[in-house]
Amino acid sequence: MNIAFFDTKQYDIPSFEKYGSEYGVSFKFFDTKLNEDTAELARGYDGVCVFVNDAVNAKVIDSLVDCGVKVLALRCAGFNNVDMKYAFSKLHVLRVPAYSPYAVAEHTMAPLLTSIRRIHKAYIRTRDFNFSLAGFTGFDLYGKTVGVIGTGKIGRVFIDICRGFGMKVLAYDKFPAKGLDNGDTIRYVEKDELFAKSDIISLHCPLTEDTHHMINEAAIEKCKKGVVILNTSRGALIDAEALLKGIKSRKVGAACLDVYEEEADLFFEDNSGHIMEDDTLLRLISMPNVIVTSHQAFLTEEALENIAETTVKNIVGFFENGQCPNELCYRGGSAEDCKDGKCF
Ligand code: NAI
Repeated sequence: MNIAFFDTKQYDIPSFEKYGSEYGVSFKFFDTKLNEDTAELARGYDGVCVFVNDAVNAKVIDSLVDCGVKVLALRCAGFNNVDMKYAFSKLHVLRVPAYSPYAVAEHTMAPLLTSIRRIHKAYIRTRDFNFSLAGFTGFDLYGKTVGVIGTGKIGRVFIDICRGFGMKVLAYDKFPAKGLDNGDTIRYVEKDELFAKSDIISLHCPLTEDTHHMINEAAIEKCKKGVVILNTSRGALIDAEALLKGIKSRKVGAACLDVYEEEADLFFEDNSGHIMEDDTLLRLISMPNVIVTSHQAFLTEEALENIAETTVKNIVGFFENGQCPNELCYRGGSAEDCKDGKCF
């Protein structure tokens, strides 16, 4: 099995080579992202392996099929970068539904603590032997209310972490999890109540037509003054212009963003020698109460191992058995994991 691997980063290679050689899958690592101009590189390969910012649109799918590619193996959970409707009956799409919800949930807490306790500022001050505490007053998380949107694998681990801090949880999910609401410290509510009552809001739902820009001007208007917004899910859940406006008006007290709507051409790369063309991101990064990380929430040793192992097993399962439990299927409604191996 020969797989063309796009958007390769150095940290991907050791784990994919390890599991690839163990299971008989050979990877050709390309630095470039998969797009309309680069799809031709996949000619002659059995499959392609892509990440979150490879744009798998209709034209790319047509090119891949023309190149003889049968399988698109996503080495991530989200699949908003794939035109699933168009892929149906043309290309089998496999994904890694879970690799370490702990990696993402734990990372969500890191910039929250950093921002509200001003660790990013203190770190710089003490390196210059400036031991002043001026401007560093934070607030306790204990007793505060956190609104968690999306109570799947990552959202539920984040809820556990927040409960460890003694926070109350208001949750919203289109498909609430059975047994999570205890009527007291964890309660499912409607989105508007979550916006109105949360001190901190954390996003853990997928990016869909429903959730695109769910944090917009109207939503921020409904929030408490000083609300802290956390996004380790997908950038386009937040209208970044509206967030910037909320920060400038002091309505939003802090924002911690691991993802950004226009991240595709910026994140994962060293742009330090370039002029930043994106004025919104430039302005957000310049704010003392905004912390931006470049889509790194998944990046732990455990997650990288799990991603490589599951991706390789998905590919082997598909080519050896003709089906894979982690195949995504679009049957005229929405994309979901295929339960019966009859995706076409
Ligand atoms: P999951 O599928 O276990 O949970 C997602 C939850 O969102 C489900 O409970 C689902 O019912 C809910 N949901 C679906 N539509 C919704 C809507 N319209 N409104 C509210 N809730 C809705 O997914 P998991 O593993 O917890 O991942 C969540 C998201 O985290 C992924 O979709 C992905 O975008 C993001 N992610 C980010 C990473 C990073 O490195 N920053 C790494 C991995 C995932």
